[in-house]
Amino acid sequence: MSLIDQLLKKDGHDVSELSQLLSVAPGHDTNRILQQGLAVKAESVGRKVYLRGLIELTNRCRKNCYYCGIRAGNQHAERYTLTDDEVLECARFAWEQGFGSLVIQTGELSGEAFARHIEKLLRRIHSETQSELTITLSCGEQPADVYRRWFDAGASRYLLRIETTNRKLFETIHPNDRDHRWDDRIEALQNLRLAGYQVGTGVMIGLPGQTIDDLAGDLMFFKHMDVDMVGMGPYIEHAHTPLYARASELWPPEERFRIALLMIALLRINMPFINIAASTALETLDPLGRQKGLLAGANVVMPNLTPVKNRKKYLLYNNKPNLDKDAALSAQSLSSVISAIGEEICYHQPGNSQHFVRRNTIA
Ligand code: 5AD
Ligand code: SF4
Repeated sequence: MSLIDQLLKKDGHDVSELSQLLSVAPGHDTNRILQQGLAVKAESVGRKVYLRGLIELTNRCRKNCYYCGIRAGNQHAERYTLTDDEVLECARFAWEQGFGSLVIQTGELSGEAFARHIEKLLRRIHSETQSELTITLSCGEQPADVYRRWFDAGASRYLLRIETTNRKLFETIHPNDRDHRWDDRIEALQNLRLAGYQVGTGVMIGLPGQTIDDLAGDLMFFKHMDVDMVGMGPYIEHAHTPLYARASELWPPEERFRIALLMIALLRINMPFINIAASTALETLDPLGRQKGLLAGANVVMPNLTPVKNRKKYLLYNNKPNLDKDAALSAQSLSSVISAIGEEICYHQPGNSQHFVRRNTIA
């Protein structure tokens, strides 16, 4: 039996085993790991896919992450905020289509007006969709009491990516100021857990200067933090950002894509019951990216419901896909491609993280 097969027989891996598994060559060994990711998914959470309708509420952001196209310092980004009516229209669409849940994503804003805006939207969405949609927020670092208020207003999951767990690398991709601190991000993740959320985090894969050992460390971090959900995808350069200056150091796109799939599969093997998203960034690097993510162990897809006129402005990176496809068309084509690869779409179901449910029923 090959070394890879021996390692794959184990239920969990330590950091050096994860590094070995992430270092396999393209072809046979890579495919073995991806197949194992799918096999573990089939046994644990089943070959089921949950849809989260993504609403990109605003591309305004007070931060300046060096990799991101909607950073405050990008003068080329045309800013927008959806009206409440537009948001409610997206929510109703998701509800009518039978999606079990929504994700509301924003740049990172702070202050009472923003806290109240989100609170009000949560309450209105629940009242107009008979509380049949579960809601995930992805609105950055906030004070603990804001996280609690949003939870009380009906958000049940929160996504806050750590971006990279290597603190030194984190410092090279963010400005060195008090708005961009790794420790604050960790504290925010802990506060989210305390507030009662299903907590999701994630990283970018293939950042300039990132190593395979860093990525193995990221997987260990997810285990150590005992997170309920993970969304991660390849880093994709954006021309109007500072990190673009290091584009020549990047792994080729197909390599970033392959390693991202390996990360998904190894995460599924190591945390069988969590929710893992097949990210949009995967689809940017490969037209079949989302399907391939599902076949490596992911079980969540986030169709974009943002009105097409605004979508073009929420550009985190170059070549973001589906900018012209309206929500109805995306939903239709998505459901047919998902069924075609043998996965079942779960309509009208919240798709809570089973990892979360188990932790809270056993404890
Ligand atoms: N490439 C890939 N992902 C990116 N994000 C931001 N910029 C990029 C990029 N250039 C991701 C970050 C952030 C999420 C909202 O989008 O991980 O947390
Ligand atoms: Fe703002 Fe998030 Fe982009 Fe950073 S990654 S600039 S916080 S939207």
